[in-house]
Amino acid sequence: MSPVLFPTDRAIDEAAAHLREGRLVALPTETVYGLAGDATNGEAVAAIYALKRRPSFNPLIVHVPGIIQARQVAAVGDAAAALAAAFWPGPLTLVLPLARGAPVAALALAGLDTVAVRAPAHPTARAVLDALDRPLVAPSANRSGRISPTTAAHVEEEFGDAIPVLDGGACAVGVESTIIGLASGAGPVLLRPGAIAPEAVAEVLGKAVTAPSRSVVAAPGMLTSHYAPAAKVRLRASGPREGEVLLGFGGTPGATLDLSPSGDLHEAAANLFSFLRRLDAEAIAAGGRIAVAPVPDTGLGVAINDRLRRAAAPRPGPRTLFGMRRRNRRRRGD
Ligand code: TXA
Ligand code: MG
Repeated sequence: MSPVLFPTDRAIDEAAAHLREGRLVALPTETVYGLAGDATNGEAVAAIYALKRRPSFNPLIVHVPGIIQARQVAAVGDAAAALAAAFWPGPLTLVLPLARGAPVAALALAGLDTVAVRAPAHPTARAVLDALDRPLVAPSANRSGRISPTTAAHVEEEFGDAIPVLDGGACAVGVESTIIGLASGAGPVLLRPGAIAPEAVAEVLGKAVTAPSRSVVAAPGMLTSHYAPAAKVRLRASGPREGEVLLGFGGTPGATLDLSPSGDLHEAAANLFSFLRRLDAEAIAAGGRIAVAPVPDTGLGVAINDRLRRAAAPRPGPRTLFGMRRRNRRRRGD
């Protein structure tokens, strides 16, 4: 397959054939582009971890066409079924008990007895799932820790021509799916904020959605530093300082780019990752930093602020790695 393809019927069939052989294809979902592989094929799953340089303790989301296929991989109880009926296909991932004999490669689950499942809404992702007739794992199509891609061009920036990309245009939502945990027995837990608000989930379930308890590793992928541009990021900036480029919101004066001049959070989410990529290139060229104006912490703003905080978080630099290596050496006694 050639690198970037429009999702014609022929390209969809080629993509499905490619996936069936255990190879990877990047495809659009309504949230971000995913790096897809056959969930039932351990080698395909291993190739995803290798290409993304993703730590193997971080499990993947299993993508299915809908609830019927979800039941083959997970125990779908009443609460999960109600949420699927309300929000699928769409940007909601459910963490559920793993079904016995689920046809999912062990590596994709990182040793957990739960599985994250979602039914994407993008017509291209749905067409590939239908043609393949197997579940797909599809993490965001970026190297681990970096900015998620929302266009086919972003995926090419990440992986060059190593991976064929189905070009379904810019992602409408722009931030990854909301993840709700239903496997703990303690009621619904918000593991990652996204476009489906916890209030909307609570309304369907008639039960409050809680934050994960601190003693539990919620979603192992929610490492503090994530979505990180190469340039440093400064949050809640009222204006640009010397050498900074400014990401604005709602008409911030002096903004280099404005996530939504009219203050629309949906527009801001859809622009977030592509604007961070553009400003990153500018900030690095200028040897500077990205400053970000405040974004209201309501509705989709909660997901936007979550991603921005992780983009600004301290990164594991060479000194930390060195320190870790030294500690490990000491522990091994060499
Ligand atoms: O919108 C999305 O969900 C995108 C598109 C491509 O579908 N995918 C995505 O995948 O964001 P990824 O791999 O970048 O993020 C998956 C997240 C990680 O934080 C991971 O730790 C969490 O889901 N996760 C997966 N399985 C889990 C489980 N059993 N329990 C808790 N968290 C889990
Ligand atoms: Mg990701």
